[in-house]
Amino acid sequence: MTCWPVRKVDVRGCQLAVVLEGQGLPILFVHGFPLDHSMWDHQIEALSKEFLVIAPDLPGFGASGPLNVEVQRMEDFADSLSELLTVLGIRDRVVFCGLSMGGYIAWQFWRRHADRLRALILCDTRAAADTSEVAQQRITNAERVLKEGPEFFVEMMISRLFSPRQLAENSPVVDRIRQVMRGTSPQTIAACLRGMAQRVDARAWLGEISLPTLVVVGEEDALSTPAEMEEIAAAIPGAKFVKIPGAGHLAPLENPSAVNQAILQFLRDLS
Ligand code: MLT
Repeated sequence: MTCWPVRKVDVRGCQLAVVLEGQGLPILFVHGFPLDHSMWDHQIEALSKEFLVIAPDLPGFGASGPLNVEVQRMEDFADSLSELLTVLGIRDRVVFCGLSMGGYIAWQFWRRHADRLRALILCDTRAAADTSEVAQQRITNAERVLKEGPEFFVEMMISRLFSPRQLAENSPVVDRIRQVMRGTSPQTIAACLRGMAQRVDARAWLGEISLPTLVVVGEEDALSTPAEMEEIAAAIPGAKFVKIPGAGHLAPLENPSAVNQAILQFLRDLS
């Protein structure tokens, strides 16, 4: 794992930690839940050789300041990221690359800040809203995390995020992600669970997306399945769809070389 230098910038009253590496076309990497920028370690390494990589910790996560809300809406994350680009002086349109919750934020970023976008990369995410059962389970988990702490939730997430092979081998990356999740405050976990439970269904928007789009999914992703992601790609005009072998929900960490190759090819075709 590389410890990238992190800058702290004030964004809408929250100190955001952000890694900025390289030069050229800016790519904004938005992590999943409850993670931080380090899940993009391999992408920062490979892509900063040709592009400007911007990898923040979202408000409340990693080394960023706390989230002081009960419900964190995906819209608010999108607005904070737009403001982050302003504060960093990024005027060029960016490629927005989001994983899972980062993808939920991508739909809102596209709706609210389309003039900032050059292209979209959607990794292991969903366009559908939660069913009422899933939303209710998130609310229950939010309350339990606030009462008992995040440990039960972290172990539940670990078993869902990785492919069976990574879990069976108990590879070091599994423990690294466990530590990142344990470091996330119960308030942040609860606020995001509630926000995700309320998020709107983005499927009706997919046909209106006219940006170059890459859709990437781990072949063994049980949370945002290849079948569901293939449907997302089919609904976005001209979108490319890539399945990553030997990976679950955290494809960029589980099979970084295949993910980097797909992203590099996509970005080179843009320029
Ligand atoms: C994530 O990886 O961001 C989460 O799995 C998103 C979710 O809980 O829906």
